[in-house]
Amino acid sequence: MPRVRAVQIEKTGGPEVLTVADVAAPEPGPGQVLVDVEAAGVNYIDTYRRGGVYPLQLPAVLGSEGAGRVAGFGAGVRGFELGQLVAWKEAPGSYAEQVLVPAAELVPVPEGVDAHTAAAVLLQGLTAHYLCTDTYPVTGGTWALVHAGAGGVGLLLTQMLKLRGAMVLTTTSTPEKAELSRRAGADEVVGYAEATARARELTGGRGVDVVYDSVGKDTFDASLQALRPRGLMVLFGGSSGQVPPFDVQRLNTAGSLFLTRPTLGSYTQTREELLARTEEVFGWIAAGDLDVRVGHTYRLEDVRRAHEDLEGRRTTGKLLLIP
Ligand SMILES: NC(=O)c1ccc[n+]([C@@H]2O[C@H](COP(=O)([O-])OP(=O)(O)OC[C@H]3O[C@@H](n4cnc5c(N)ncnc54)[C@H](OP(=O)(O)O)[C@@H]3O)[C@@H](O)[C@H]2O)c1
Repeated sequence: MPRVRAVQIEKTGGPEVLTVADVAAPEPGPGQVLVDVEAAGVNYIDTYRRGGVYPLQLPAVLGSEGAGRVAGFGAGVRGFELGQLVAWKEAPGSYAEQVLVPAAELVPVPEGVDAHTAAAVLLQGLTAHYLCTDTYPVTGGTWALVHAGAGGVGLLLTQMLKLRGAMVLTTTSTPEKAELSRRAGADEVVGYAEATARARELTGGRGVDVVYDSVGKDTFDASLQALRPRGLMVLFGGSSGQVPPFDVQRLNTAGSLFLTRPTLGSYTQTREELLARTEEVFGWIAAGDLDVRVGHTYRLEDVRRAHEDLEGRRTTGKLLLIP
């Protein structure tokens, strides 16, 4: 029976539970496409799954995002060719040489976008896209605060906000990260402790229209304080830990605020929606309007270091695993 190399966990825990194993090569079932993975995206959600925040059935091959070439089909699959370059944001087991992707999840990668860029942009790029087009439909003159401005989502979101004419304040933890965030188009970059005061100063005391907060536990309170009356708090991650239970009366006293905790799945509910967002993001890349920064590529064998670097705040932009 053919075997492939894959990053497997047998129990949840820290990066030490990640091991590279030889596992049975996957066989495509109905509606599934077999893909030779060229690059797998490393995302924060992989660390939540590894640690048990989001439960998995064990043993499990980790990973969810990637790009590669079509190597086989199950029954009923139409519209893809052998050897075609494709990408996906959600296929369990993507940290591997081969993965099965539901055909409904697979998107074709157009000319002008290479495999590494496609793997790097799909999950974080579609996230940034829905956050600024639909969660808060940003227009010219919108003031947005983006935490972790030099991160994977942060760099993409900042560029997309600027494409839509927004004014952008970001936070980062080091001068090097601040410089990267500025190069992505941020109008102002500050340390986390200064974010609320600077948000007020920049908006004449009023507060920003929207906060995009993926840091969570450590930034949540300050984020609420940075908003204008009836502003929108978008809590979309917990890189510093999950936000504890919340008293909704705080929305009232802070100025009739709105709070949402969105996920990408709710904003790609149909194939049409997935393809429309992907087309726009790939279009910006091909036109040179969106720079996708791959901060680091790791071999499959170095997956522990990839997770340690991501959780240790040592990374910028996107991380890729190359099987
Ligand atoms: N809801 C959704 O649809 C969705 C989709 C994709 C991603 N996300 C979320 O978005 C967030 C960003 O994901 P990403 O892959 O692009 O990661 P990332 O932003 O590249 O990495 C996390 C960054 O958060 C900052 N951070 C602040 N406090 C931290 C702490 N205590 N520990 C670790 N990092 C801290 C660090 O930047 P500094 O050093 O500059 O502070 C770090 O580099 C994650 O929380 C992820 O779960 C949500």
